[in-house]
Amino acid sequence: MKVYIGSDHGGYGLKQEIIDHLSERGIEMTDVGTYSEESCDYPTYAKPVTEAIINGEAELGILVCGTGIGMSMAANKEKGIRAALCHDTFSAKATREHNDANILCLGARVIGPGLALMIVDTFLDTPFSNDERHIRRISMFS
Ligand code: RB5
Repeated sequence: MKVYIGSDHGGYGLKQEIIDHLSERGIEMTDVGTYSEESCDYPTYAKPVTEAIINGEAELGILVCGTGIGMSMAANKEKGIRAALCHDTFSAKATREHNDANILCLGARVIGPGLALMIVDTFLDTPFSNDERHIRRISMFS
């Protein structure tokens, strides 16, 4: 599995914790930045993650900002992107199974790193159900 990850300054610290965690798990990833806590614009970092998914370089993406909201808004503007803002493991599992979400958005100012890493693992480890009804519903807005 190949994962692209990005954040703005608000999500930088959590992004680094996620990177360490994914490295320990042996998951191949590309970090598109940001690379410090200096103030920056979240759409700048959403773009390369959405592009990697659209062009097939990555299967899944993770985007982190202060709330996760700006990142999810920016990512979902791109055709083919299904970005899900999740702050619980139930939603992370359900959005993979039902929505075939391809980007997980997290708010670093909303939840702590312990829960965030459980959400990341749940998101990455849950396959799409491939149920006909879910394929139909996704096609209705794709
Ligand atoms: C940055 O202050 C903050 O606005 C950003 O990280 C994010 O929460 C936007 O949705």
